[in-house]
Amino acid sequence: MRTRFEPAARLRGDLVAPPDKSISHRAALLAAMCAEPVHVRNYLDAGDTNSTLDALRAVGALVEARPDQIVIRGGGLRGAAPADAPIDVGNSGTLMRLLPGWLAGQEGSWTLDGDESIRRRPVDRIAEPLRMLGARVDATNGRFPPFTVHGARLGSLDYELPVASAQVKSCVLLAGLLSLGEVAVAEPRPSRDHTERLLARAGAGVSRDDGRIVVARTDELELDEITVPGDLSSAAFLIAAGVLVPGSRLLLRDVGVNWTRTGFLRILERMGGVVVGDFESPPPPREIPTEEPVSELDVRAGPLVGTVVEADEVPLAIDELPLVALLGCFAEGDTIVRGAGELRVKESDRIAAVVEGLRALGGEIEPTEDGFAVSGTGGLQGGVLDSHGDHRVAMLGAVAGLASREGVTVLGMDAAAISYPLFLEHLGTLA
Ligand code: S3P
Repeated sequence: MRTRFEPAARLRGDLVAPPDKSISHRAALLAAMCAEPVHVRNYLDAGDTNSTLDALRAVGALVEARPDQIVIRGGGLRGAAPADAPIDVGNSGTLMRLLPGWLAGQEGSWTLDGDESIRRRPVDRIAEPLRMLGARVDATNGRFPPFTVHGARLGSLDYELPVASAQVKSCVLLAGLLSLGEVAVAEPRPSRDHTERLLARAGAGVSRDDGRIVVARTDELELDEITVPGDLSSAAFLIAAGVLVPGSRLLLRDVGVNWTRTGFLRILERMGGVVVGDFESPPPPREIPTEEPVSELDVRAGPLVGTVVEADEVPLAIDELPLVALLGCFAEGDTIVRGAGELRVKESDRIAAVVEGLRALGGEIEPTEDGFAVSGTGGLQGGVLDSHGDHRVAMLGAVAGLASREGVTVLGMDAAAISYPLFLEHLGTLA
């Protein structure tokens, strides 16, 4: 699918951000672990999160889609059913890494597989802690899907994550619910904490202690009702468009502003971007909040300067780093991102895809092993950008087109449906 984005005169409008993908996955998974039905409002209707609903059906949950909510009737914390066939995780890394955490403590074996991109993404990062707990994981070439999780009686674990990954952290925490002993996870740096928040809200024995997250064996989870906030990672594309297209002013409503997700807004602020909202501050170190804060975001276009993003900030803005590269092209001076080697194992190698894509539009950007360096030239000419089937690269190309001098054609725009099916419709209301 070739989609053309002409330079925009200015963007104006008022939009509700699409539902959060990370929180939707977690809401559905935890709902399926409850014994009583759970009502999830504002669940994201997109490729990845629909893969999660299908996976939960495959392990025995009933999922009812009503016009304003979905209702999930699971079989309880220890009630995953055997699956008749391999579970298809589609394009979803989050599903592929979280679901095995829950299955590992139950009786049975489950095989997980997915699309071409998923088959290139490593699962050894979850296989290691699950094996240490006592489960068996057989992966292709020891590292990749398809892979099979053989459930077992799990022991105890004090695990230091080798990479700051919310997906791996969440996998270990879910396994901890069913472990006989205590399970603790230490992160090299904070990553998104939606799993901890939702577990605390569901009554699991989860706490913070000395920088570790500790989870105790739990008998039952109880949730009743969850409302998913808007996705900052999706809204970030609209924010970037609003900042870059001269004369723009946008209001985005109901955006999740959990501090572990708002790294992009802090980076943007350093670059001189104007986004006004009511952002969450980090809670005290021992506290696990049970809510997800939301805010309106008031976005205005304006000039930008380059910045440096270091490793500490990376997990808090991981999915928005491609947009930092785009903003860097329009900024005055250099923009450098370091410590972001994780970008190489996302839906595409996002360092390679972003560098190739922005260069094709006239950007001056160099890849590094763990990031990139952009020389800002005040704008982008335009051209053709290949999404490589990656939803976030496709949406990056669209925003680049609106802000460019000559327009951009995106190859593979349909990939946006993985996280933001209404993206083109929403852009259309702003132009
Ligand atoms: C996600 C965590 C991040 C992020 C991904 C969603 C999650 O991955 O890139 O899009 O929902 O936990 P890592 O935790 O592996 O960095």
